[in-house]
Amino acid sequence: MASENVIVEKNQGQALITDKIKENQKKLYMESYGCQMNLNDSEIVASILSEQGYNTTTLIEEADLVLVNTCSIREKAEMTIRKRLEKYNAVKRINPTMKVGVLGCMAERLKEKFLEEEKIIDLVVGPDAYRDLPNLLQEIDAGREAVNVILSKDETYGDVSPVRLNSNGVSAFVSITRGCDNMCTFCVVPFTRGRERSRDPQSILAEIQDLKDKNYKEITLLGQNVDSFLWFGGGMKKDFKNASEIAKATAIDFSQLLDMCATAFPKMRIRFSTSNPQDMELDVIYTMAKHQNICNYIHLPVQSGSTKILKAMNRQHTREEYMTLIDTIFKIIPDIAVSQDMIIGFCGETEEDHQDTLSLLEYVKYDYGYMFTYSERPGTPAAKKMKDDVPLDVKKRRLAEIITLQREHSHFRTNAFVGKTLEVLVEGSSKKSDLHWKGRTSQNTMVVFPKENYKVGDFVNVKIDDCTSATLIGTAVEYSKNN
Ligand code: SAH
Ligand code: F3S
Repeated sequence: MASENVIVEKNQGQALITDKIKENQKKLYMESYGCQMNLNDSEIVASILSEQGYNTTTLIEEADLVLVNTCSIREKAEMTIRKRLEKYNAVKRINPTMKVGVLGCMAERLKEKFLEEEKIIDLVVGPDAYRDLPNLLQEIDAGREAVNVILSKDETYGDVSPVRLNSNGVSAFVSITRGCDNMCTFCVVPFTRGRERSRDPQSILAEIQDLKDKNYKEITLLGQNVDSFLWFGGGMKKDFKNASEIAKATAIDFSQLLDMCATAFPKMRIRFSTSNPQDMELDVIYTMAKHQNICNYIHLPVQSGSTKILKAMNRQHTREEYMTLIDTIFKIIPDIAVSQDMIIGFCGETEEDHQDTLSLLEYVKYDYGYMFTYSERPGTPAAKKMKDDVPLDVKKRRLAEIITLQREHSHFRTNAFVGKTLEVLVEGSSKKSDLHWKGRTSQNTMVVFPKENYKVGDFVNVKIDDCTSATLIGTAVEYSKNN
């Protein structure tokens, strides 16, 4: 580790060594809420702080520093974090020297106000300011307030090698873009994570190589809007139009990045999330079809089945355009799995709009879905200009109807795999039985099967004998040729 290097390099006397060893014992306890990007950001933070002698711990009671990476996407997410802060308060009463920092979207949204509202907090750091953490920690030690919520034009943490937290040792996240320029009217992300920037493909490939060297078998390329990835030498996506002719001619888009990753690492499974229908180019689908190691799974949030509501949400496509995209995807990759995000009860949603959402679900029959009632977020265009006018009981009833239908479709899709033989990447022991492995198919469906002599990280062809609503149950046939 870098901190050990410090001991070797500056080995000038016993006192220094003792100091450093003491420093190495600093304990960092981290929790992440919200999206996969937050999880990956926490891994970046753990890496930055490991250089400062912090080791991570899973025991909050022994922590010198507690960092919580927060989510603002819905009001409920913020309430969960406020509750968590109460728990930290209880621990701090026993361990008064423990410092507490908030990172991520809530930190960015609430800024200094967060320090005033929650007395337990010592440190507030937004998503683009993690490199400043070492300085900010010194500020707290000197008894000063420590807040950095400056959003960046070019920060991608491309050179930071994440410390994998809670990892199964098999799959890992690799960030490829930060921020979002889409401005969906309901969404707080463009305000908390700033403008869209893409990461240098060379640093992406280097990170995947490092994961491969550590025996990882699957990566998920992460971004708020991966289809919008565009590398032209750095900086904000919006500045591409002013880039030099050379930069424009040599720019790399998402389908090219996918192709580069899949070609360079043919033995690794490649996933990506999240796709936005308005930015998804057909080249991406063709690239998926071309490489067997790019998983046949797309998370393609739609948010509503009503063109009127999509327009109010500033999603740049109609219901019909989305359906055409789905048809094309199924035509090019017939055995692909598709999942959705839905927002139920957005401003102005009528019963007819709700029926449109139900009929879109019926049309696509998604493999999975993530469905939530609309939660107004302060400062967003919807909060400023529209009325959150669907009563809570109506939102809840519509949500229940949508969840019931999605469950039927999930079961339908899972059932269709019974009798087939599918490649599974073994991730670990099944939660319910130590005699079974669990792992996922290319389509991202969970499979459990008897362990035999297979081990974690193996690709195994499994014959599917049965299923529950979300899990396939099978027996191993043989090693896949992809090992
Ligand atoms: N970048 C992704 C989504 C990021 S937010 C995309 O292109 O869609 C993840 C999901 O949270 C969204 O897809 C949306 O379904 C949900 N969400 C975002 N803002 C919300 C709000 N104000 N209320 C309820 N759900 C919301
Ligand atoms: Fe949010 Fe829309 Fe971007 S949902 S993250 S503004 S694509």
